[in-house]
Amino acid sequence: MRRISLLLMAILMLIVTAGGSPVTTSTDLWQSTRVTEPKQHQLTGTGGYPYRAKSDYVLRELDLRPGDVVVDIGAGDGFWAERMAKFVGKEGTIYASEVEQKKVDRMKEKFTDLPQVRPYLCPTDGTGLQENSCELAFLSKTYHHLDAEGRVDYLRHLRKVVRATGRLCVIEKYTNISTQHQSHAIALSQLVKQAEEAGWIAVRYELMTGTYHYIAIFVQKDLFGPESAR
Ligand SMILES: C[S@@+](CC[C@H](N)C(=O)[O-])C[C@H]1O[C@@H](n2cnc3c(N)ncnc32)[C@H](O)[C@@H]1O
Repeated sequence: MRRISLLLMAILMLIVTAGGSPVTTSTDLWQSTRVTEPKQHQLTGTGGYPYRAKSDYVLRELDLRPGDVVVDIGAGDGFWAERMAKFVGKEGTIYASEVEQKKVDRMKEKFTDLPQVRPYLCPTDGTGLQENSCELAFLSKTYHHLDAEGRVDYLRHLRKVVRATGRLCVIEKYTNISTQHQSHAIALSQLVKQAEEAGWIAVRYELMTGTYHYIAIFVQKDLFGPESAR
């Protein structure tokens, strides 16, 4: 009897702990890169948004905190804005930027209960936000939409909008392993090169296994100080 009560108590504690945390634990999300099955790194999801299946993983990577301010550039239907809103809370803000008015209108209708999500119509060559206004600039499947000639300038603009300790996160199709729609994509190497040119430093990038998309996270180069100071 005592053993059963102890077991029940342990189960209850597990449920309470899991319920208190908005993300699953790192062990749940971790995947080995060791090739045990030839196709393990290829696409396993279906539909047009396979990377969305990894939203828990992405949100854990972003490590958002209450009060954070995020610009979700090319927010679309607000999939990410909605999820990020839970982490930044009512004291935070998710600027859901879009170039299409109908998408802005739809998000406004959809997020009446989430006042921290602020959909707005943005220009194509910038966010329209003030300097030092965000902790994170987030572009999921939007970077390849930016004017090819203006991408480095766009990333320079984001360095101004994002605070000194803030980050840039880009999700795009991993062209090296995807055979479809190569034009709706940007090679990881090209993104890193352009980001470095604009003054960002990559601190993490990896394939999101099973989605043929990568996530890349950058911080401001200024954080590291001039070469001579090291
Ligand atoms: C493929 S959808 C991605 C939607 C969502 N972010 C996701 O990850 O599923 C790209 C979105 O970017 C928007 N977009 C294109 N160019 C943009 C720009 N210069 N600034 C902001 N949004 C842009 C499009 O209207 C579209 O909604």
